[in-house]
Amino acid sequence: MTAGQADALQRLWPLWGLDIDGQRVIDLAELFGNTRPVVLEIGFGMGEATARMAAADPDTNILAVDVHTPGQGNLLGLAEQYDLSNIRVANGDAIILLREMLAPGSLAGLRVYFPDPWPKKRHHKRRLIQPEFLALAAARLAPGAVVHCATDWEPYAEQMLEVLTAHPDFENTVQDGGFAPRPAHRPQTRFEGQGLDKGHVVNDLLFRRVQHPVSHSASHRDQHRDQHKEQPPTG
Ligand SMILES: C[S@@+](CC[C@H](N)C(=O)[O-])C[C@H]1O[C@@H](n2cnc3c(N)ncnc32)[C@H](O)[C@@H]1O
Repeated sequence: MTAGQADALQRLWPLWGLDIDGQRVIDLAELFGNTRPVVLEIGFGMGEATARMAAADPDTNILAVDVHTPGQGNLLGLAEQYDLSNIRVANGDAIILLREMLAPGSLAGLRVYFPDPWPKKRHHKRRLIQPEFLALAAARLAPGAVVHCATDWEPYAEQMLEVLTAHPDFENTVQDGGFAPRPAHRPQTRFEGQGLDKGHVVNDLLFRRVQHPVSHSASHRDQHRDQHKEQPPTG
């Protein structure tokens, strides 16, 4: 950790930091001081792309989570330097944050840029983007929220496409059902730059959280059950 990162961490953590203790559900409006939509970014690394995206879109709140302390200091320092009020930095495991500390339907989006690729087959189970993770994410995302993933590891990109496509709560925003063109609003990340230097191909994926219509038979059944409940007792 550089002296600047340590200094930013010490000064700004009390203002903009969040410890992931798994003990409470966060009031996001209280955390950000407003009710603007909140997008969660998992694994922001050094946070340069996070800060640039937050600066370009001040009406969106960014909850950025990572376990990497120098990166947390770096992002806090960038938020101060760019005079950003729409970033909060969470320290700890994103899964605990999602599972224990975020309310159902509370997120307007999810960003996962260049998650650890875990290239060895015996480590594939450690990859973040798996069906169980998507089920948890779907529960925390509001209908219409977009999940944006990017990776420079093509086998992982294929896995992401497969599991997102198979998940009933997400639909591909891309007509042909494939990878998305890289959106102009996503700056190049540090890890991405390293991948590009090695000749890697980068893929973006943009999927939307869908809201399933209540089926006619289900609503009819509920109505019937409710009517039955309201019957006065007989005899
Ligand atoms: C390969 S780096 C990519 C960083 C950045 N997005 C970029 O593109 O430069 C992946 C990051 O995810 C973080 N990470 C991995 N698992 C995590 C978890 N369960 N919760 C929070 N952060 C995690 C790591 O600490 C690391 O900073």
